[in-house]
Amino acid sequence: MKIAILAGDGIGPEIIAQAVRVLDTLKGEGLDIVLEYGLIGGCAVDATGEPYPEMTHQLVSHADAVLLGAVGGPQYDALPRPQRPEKGLLSIRKSLNLFANLRPATLYSELADASSLKREIVTGMDILIVRELTGDIYFGEPRGIEMRDGQRVGVNTMVYSEAEIQRIAHVAFQAAQKRNRAVCSVDKMNVLECTQLWRDVMEETGKEYPDVTLSHMLVDNAAMQLVRDPRQFDVIVTGNMFGDILSDEASMLTGSIGMLPSASLDSQNKGLYEPIHGSAPDIAGKNIANPLATILSVAMMMRYTFNQDDVAQRIEKAVQKVLSDGLRTRDIASHGMQVLGTKEMGDAVLTEL
Ligand code: NAD
Ligand code: IPM
Ligand code: MN
Repeated sequence: MKIAILAGDGIGPEIIAQAVRVLDTLKGEGLDIVLEYGLIGGCAVDATGEPYPEMTHQLVSHADAVLLGAVGGPQYDALPRPQRPEKGLLSIRKSLNLFANLRPATLYSELADASSLKREIVTGMDILIVRELTGDIYFGEPRGIEMRDGQRVGVNTMVYSEAEIQRIAHVAFQAAQKRNRAVCSVDKMNVLECTQLWRDVMEETGKEYPDVTLSHMLVDNAAMQLVRDPRQFDVIVTGNMFGDILSDEASMLTGSIGMLPSASLDSQNKGLYEPIHGSAPDIAGKNIANPLATILSVAMMMRYTFNQDDVAQRIEKAVQKVLSDGLRTRDIASHGMQVLGTKEMGDAVLTEL
């Protein structure tokens, strides 16, 4: 298992350190794990001038899987766009063809009181958001800020080809077959032609999966339904931009954005694994960030890239036990609970593991 570790910026190094301890433990038990380290994002810009250096590309191209912390920070916000840390993340996703982003928003029952919604609304919530990751307005051309009739005009373009929609549809339907067999496709077909095609292709592809129920929802309604009754959803499939927004929203229903892992897969299940949150500059360097989303991303790596479902379950069970023991980082602590730091949460998970 050749794993490239890209810690990135802000809280990235702190949360990655705890996930690496989990990998080291598994290695110590005999799993054939080799870790190699590289730079991405702002730290890569500082060292090389580029957010996704060629060396990093070589490293991840030869690895079986990538574990990534987070990129970005206010000190980089004035850089020209090609040098922005976020460009590094977009480049690695695009160059490895990681089109399928799986973001499971599952409530650990122990965290019902940390949810921003009432316990009775979130209990049992278990949603898989399947976000298309290499297309949409994120990558469409033309793009830029240009002069038109003497004023600046900002341009981005939403584009999806039917092949791109088909392949993410298959991922969503096949994931649903292993769950509760319901896919809700989220679009904005009442306004955007691009998403009319999205809906049409979802319908066509859905015919190959008669055992899965396909429904459609407009994205504004979906944002509302997620906080009204999140348990109505099994698999949500949507484009890059809507998936970005809805997954941050869904994360808070599980207690914190610090709880949500993700897998970004190509067609061979080579994968990049990362928490869905960012570099959290407001809490970086303070040992208070929640490392569980990153540790749970290691579980997803074991499941999807390495087919080690038993190892994945062990990690998930260790996290569950820590939570049922009442151990919490600040973001998920309810009133009166003992609050652990990032490293101490890592200690607790290792003990259970
Ligand atoms: P963010 O996700 O970094 O932070 C949003 C809020 O959630 C902050 O209050 C933060 O403290 C909190 N938070 C995030 N992760 C946490 C954790 N593990 N534990 C506890 N609290 C946590 O989003 P933002 O503030 O909008 O963005 C900050 C920077 O991160 C920006 O430069 C942005 O571009 C970048 N970003 C990177 C990624 C990524 O690398 N995948 C994702 C999102 C944002
Ligand atoms: C995420 C992030 C990224 C995205 C940014 C940092 C490019 O928000 O991984 O969710 O928009 O995809
Ligand atoms: Mn995001």
